[in-house]
Amino acid sequence: MSIHTMLAESPVVPVVVVDSADEGIKVGQALVAGGIRTAEVTFRTAAAADAIRAMSDIEGLNVGAGTVINPAQVDEAIAAGARYIVSPGFSADVVRAAQAADVPVLPACTDGSWLMAARELGLDVVKFFPAGVMGGVKAIQALAAPFPGMGFVPTGGVSAANLPDYLACPAVKACGGSWMVSATLVKEGRYDEIERLSAEAVAIAKECGR
Ligand code: 3PG
Repeated sequence: MSIHTMLAESPVVPVVVVDSADEGIKVGQALVAGGIRTAEVTFRTAAAADAIRAMSDIEGLNVGAGTVINPAQVDEAIAAGARYIVSPGFSADVVRAAQAADVPVLPACTDGSWLMAARELGLDVVKFFPAGVMGGVKAIQALAAPFPGMGFVPTGGVSAANLPDYLACPAVKACGGSWMVSATLVKEGRYDEIERLSAEAVAIAKECGR
């Protein structure tokens, strides 16, 4: 599936941090029950690859890898079944490793220089992180002007409250965030609440025409 199709189907990309494959499965099932179609499982815990492998079996869930910061993690994530790669910054080596495997990659770009580097490697959609502190919607609009055709996936500081503002921006292809699957909810096993917040996020996206 192309990254554009995936993001069009998944305007909300939950950023998932789990400590075990089992936790990942329960989170993934709650997300799907709430209508979410994708999950970015971050390489912030030792369980990331196992969780990606386990969650990839969940019907209707497109599982990607997040917080991927070097080519070795790209290979590990793809071997585990990751369908896309997300990075908190821009590394040409990370981008090239994903491209070599024909897997979509979303490096974070927060200014014109990084967007030029992304363009040089043929990318037309990037992560914008950390979105809130880097200027939010206004920054995306300003950056989109000299980079027509570039899509952005703001992540970091996105919430149910400001999701409509981001999704109203045509350059925003989807929004990432942890608000529906926060560390506290996961730790306390509050899967009903993860499902409820997921459904709320999907409903907001629908109201925004996504
Ligand atoms: C990320 O990894 O992209 C962010 O940490 C998610 O940010 P949030 O917790 O503010 O949603």
